[in-house]
Amino acid sequence: MNIHNYEKLWLVLAMVMIIGFISTVVYGATAVGIEMVNDEGGTIDSTALEEDDRFAEPRVERVGDNEYEAYVVARQFIFEPDPIEIPANSTLTFYVTSPDVIHGFEVVGTNANAMVIPGEVTELTVELNEPGEYGILCNEYCGGGHHTMEGKLIVQPEDEFEQGGNDE
Ligand code: CUA
Repeated sequence: MNIHNYEKLWLVLAMVMIIGFISTVVYGATAVGIEMVNDEGGTIDSTALEEDDRFAEPRVERVGDNEYEAYVVARQFIFEPDPIEIPANSTLTFYVTSPDVIHGFEVVGTNANAMVIPGEVTELTVELNEPGEYGILCNEYCGGGHHTMEGKLIVQPEDEFEQGGNDE
């Protein structure tokens, strides 16, 4: 069979592109440091959050030196707890779930931005070094009050946080 050189060239280019596309997808799904949302948070009974150790009382917990975990419930049309307060120079891992409909969870000004799905726990971690206030926004349309659904993350100067007595 005789194949024209041009045709061979196009065949090779097409193969290179296909391999390129597949590589991109594989890299995005598996490369170190890249996580798919909900890979690790697990599932939960969205109708019984009040019986769950983590979400019955939405809260922030200190779990180590400069390490905090926030158990957040996103519901129509609030985030609990609100505000979330931690000291500067902390690593904060959010566990977020919803008892009603799909919400968004975006910490404005950080790379934390994920979907919150009833029945699933969204896990995401941010490092917060500078004191400041961050808005938390719902960016999935969730009903009539969607545009009012917002919360606040307050990163306090480390010395002031200790004095505030929030640290146990
Ligand atoms: Cu919750 Cu939009």
